[in-house]
Amino acid sequence: MKASLTVILAFIKLTQLVSAAAIANPDVQISLNIDGDHVSVDKNDNEKKVEKSQLNSNRSLLDYMFGFLMDNEADMSIAENKNKKQALPLSDELSVLTMQDDYQVPDKDDLRDINGSSVLYRGGEFGGLVSFAHLPYANCYDPAAFDDEKFDIAVVGAPFDTGTSYRPGTRFGPTGIRMGSRRLAPAYSVYSGFNPYSNWAKIVDCGDPPVTPLDNRIALDQIYRAERAIRNHKTTGKSKQKAPKVFTLGGDHTITLPAVKAAYEKYGKISVIHFDSHLDTWNPYYFGGNITSYQAMNHGTYLHWAHEKGYLSDNCIHAAIRGPYPGPRDVQHDIDCGFDRILARDIDKIGADGIIKKIKERIGSTDAPVYITVDVDSMDPAFTPATGTVEPGGWSSRELLTVLDGLEGLNVVGGDVVEVSPPYDSAEITSLAAAQVADSIISLMVLKEQE
Ligand SMILES: *[C@@H]1O[C@H](CO)[C@@H](O)[C@H](O)[C@H]1NC(C)=O
Ligand SMILES: *[C@@H]1O[C@H](CO)[C@@H](O)[C@H](O)[C@H]1NC(C)=O
Ligand SMILES: *[C@@H]1O[C@H](CO)[C@@H](O)[C@H](O)[C@H]1NC(C)=O
Repeated sequence: MKASLTVILAFIKLTQLVSAAAIANPDVQISLNIDGDHVSVDKNDNEKKVEKSQLNSNRSLLDYMFGFLMDNEADMSIAENKNKKQALPLSDELSVLTMQDDYQVPDKDDLRDINGSSVLYRGGEFGGLVSFAHLPYANCYDPAAFDDEKFDIAVVGAPFDTGTSYRPGTRFGPTGIRMGSRRLAPAYSVYSGFNPYSNWAKIVDCGDPPVTPLDNRIALDQIYRAERAIRNHKTTGKSKQKAPKVFTLGGDHTITLPAVKAAYEKYGKISVIHFDSHLDTWNPYYFGGNITSYQAMNHGTYLHWAHEKGYLSDNCIHAAIRGPYPGPRDVQHDIDCGFDRILARDIDKIGADGIIKKIKERIGSTDAPVYITVDVDSMDPAFTPATGTVEPGGWSSRELLTVLDGLEGLNVVGGDVVEVSPPYDSAEITSLAAAQVADSIISLMVLKEQE
């Protein structure tokens, strides 16, 4: 029964195809010639001028798009609708939907909007493979091309989630954030009139390096080698910066360790501005792993390790902190790691301006190399529910974006947005917020070098 139904359906499909082929005449097309006249061109390249009255005579949408048959008398009569079923006249209300008489749909070989070289119509959000904000894709991992493949800022994904202590799923974060970024470009900020993607900087998307889900030691090393390779590329030379700046799409927060290491190798000690509900400087022998050193490396301890390894300056700062401290000595250990703390509720007392001032004072100099890392749990779960360790009572996405934009002037050499777990998301709410965070931090990189 099922088999015979398939055969019947296939037969119907085939007859439809055959009859469609008999009706359409792809060999004849109306186009503009060199003098600007409308002509019909048959398969032997014979041109025939088309009178304007014929052109405007009740053409259907398909006639507009694909041309109509004009090969001989019989075809002319079809074009003039003599043998064709007449369309009902349009009411005035509906006539607003008809194309303007002099509008020329693109020629059938015109690919400008299809290949992205021109924008003829709205809809680019959906075109192409999904890169961050439709940035061009670059192969950033061929040592032979480090000199010739030049760019100023690179976006890279780190699909890693095996350092998380609660909700997994951030291995899908880079893809989720890229999906959330499709409406970012071309677009100008209503606050600053600024569009980072059509400014001086060449910004590319390096895709994601492979990251093994089976061994964190290997995975974090893969991310480190990718970040290092990206920073070894030459820049376009349009600013004084010597090496590309890198923005990473996480991944759970452990990925910040290899990213900061690669930045440290280029710039020396890095000042980290860390937006998060948790400190993440936890003493690994206390928090989540004092049995093996493998356990001791996770998304709550990577800043402890970054400090231990000497990558950090003593001017680091956290903001939006509110997650409970696992132990009474956490704050002292945090201070020992070089950090100050801004708590989530401080924004109610000193406002976004007060937060911005405090961060800038802590960093001290506009030359100091800064790395901004944003855990989306710095925002309230109302704005970013799909994350690893959710803590109520956080900042709104507007508050965080205001603070980020206020950091203009700092020398941001790297950044990331992490802990987006798309499997927990709804309506892309978390991915959209993360994409906007990335947009703000990339803007800081572009604005700094424009000074
Ligand atoms: C278009 O069709 C309408 C209604 O069928 C008819 O009145 C009108 O004359 C036609 N126009 C042309 C240019 O053929
Ligand atoms: C896009 O197609 C047009 C032809 O319609 C061609 O001239 C142009 O070079 C193409 N651009 C790219 C980037 O492929
Ligand atoms: C591990 O930490 C716990 C407290 O969190 C402590 O009770 C235990 O003695 C520690 N074990 C080792 C081997 O340090």
